Amino acid sequence: MKNWENHSNKIIHLEKGLSRHEVIFVNWNDKVYVFKNLHVRLAKREYEILRKAEKLAFQCVIPVGWGRINLNEENNVDYDSGIIITEYLQNSLPFRSLFNDKNLERYRIRLQDAIAGLLVSLHIVGLFWGDCSLSNVLFRRDAGELQAFLVDAETSNFYPIISDATRELDLEIMKENITGDLLDISVLHELPDALDIYSVGDIIEKKYNQLWEEISESFIIKKSENYKIQERIRKLNQIGFSVDEIVLFPTSKQDEVQFKTIVTDKNYYQNLLHSITGILARENQARHIMNEIQEIKADLSRKHNNSLTLGAAAFRWKKDIYEVYINRLSDHFEYLADPIENYCQILEHKWFLSEKAQKDVGLELAFKDYLEKKLKKEIVY
Ligand SMILES: Nc1ncnc2c1ncn2[C@@H]1O[C@H](COP(=O)(O)OP(=O)(O)O)[C@@H](O)[C@H]1O
Ligand SMILES: [Mg+2]
Repeated sequence: MKNWENHSNKIIHLEKGLSRHEVIFVNWNDKVYVFKNLHVRLAKREYEILRKAEKLAFQCVIPVGWGRINLNEENNVDYDSGIIITEYLQNSLPFRSLFNDKNLERYRIRLQDAIAGLLVSLHIVGLFWGDCSLSNVLFRRDAGELQAFLVDAETSNFYPIISDATRELDLEIMKENITGDLLDISVLHELPDALDIYSVGDIIEKKYNQLWEEISESFIIKKSENYKIQERIRKLNQIGFSVDEIVLFPTSKQDEVQFKTIVTDKNYYQNLLHSITGILARENQARHIMNEIQEIKADLSRKHNNSLTLGAAAFRWKKDIYEVYINRLSDHFEYLADPIENYCQILEHKWFLSEKAQKDVGLELAFKDYLEKKLKKEIVY
């Protein structure tokens, strides 16, 4: 693969994390693909794991294919050499840019939440990662937060049910890798004084355990207290988990029952927004937008004195607000790489201005101010 660059103008250079294998980026029909050279057996395995993870609506890079490279550099037959091809994750940031770009400083704190959330999402579907490190996670901005994506699944394995020991092993590996990564970075970049390299892994573990306990907890309720099951589902939805099933167990008392919720993924708002608007947003973006749609629903219902469905409010939001503002923004920028994120930035700007003004400044004013600052490059989100 090293020599391909001399033979093809389709190879491009993009920022990437540290890697054991050779990785190149290929621009093909305006789409970028990532080629990784590794043992053919591993290439096939990684492809299959990513395929399965992708089907489970899981945040990972999207596999395209795997193959065998028949000849080595000296043109001798090579039976072991393979390749895995994935789609380049658009708008992603390698973790390093979080440490060497001043504009991204505010995202660093989010890094821990994003990795803890990613590990929980993996374990929910029975996937042991085996190599969680800062180089193996890609980040995308997600409405002021970060969403983490798994990029390297070579050491991963699916289990029907993941055991506590396997989860703990994954956390141990994560802690060791992340401390190593940060020590590595600290040699090249000055890290903020407040960042204690040795505690980052522990903080992620703590956040992970809080989330895991939250979703695995079981409750005992009276048979007449069914509403508590609804309350529990709502609470899990609020923090982004989709609930697939409620399992009920009898207890020693006649009038009591124990229940547990089975959580399937951490994309509740993403799934909801997609089902009612067809828009595929990231989880936090979707959460902000769904809040807005709920507000519109309440507002219009009040105005017309009857209850509007969520689907109808979503339709109004998309046609009258989202598309209008994104079109106006497109008039000034040739190419918007991530319009949903731009929209969420306008919302964020509205909250920022409203907080300053101590009153709701409205979307129109926030949009104009956002546009002006963005044109002057005063806003670098
Ligand atoms: N699909 C992808 N989209 C964006 N970047 C990618 C993708 N695949 C790999 N990379 C970049 O290449 C680097 C190395 O890939 P990785 O699969 O971790 O290789 P290795 O197995 O050698 O560690 C990653 O840290 C990431 O920055
Ligand atoms: Mg890697």
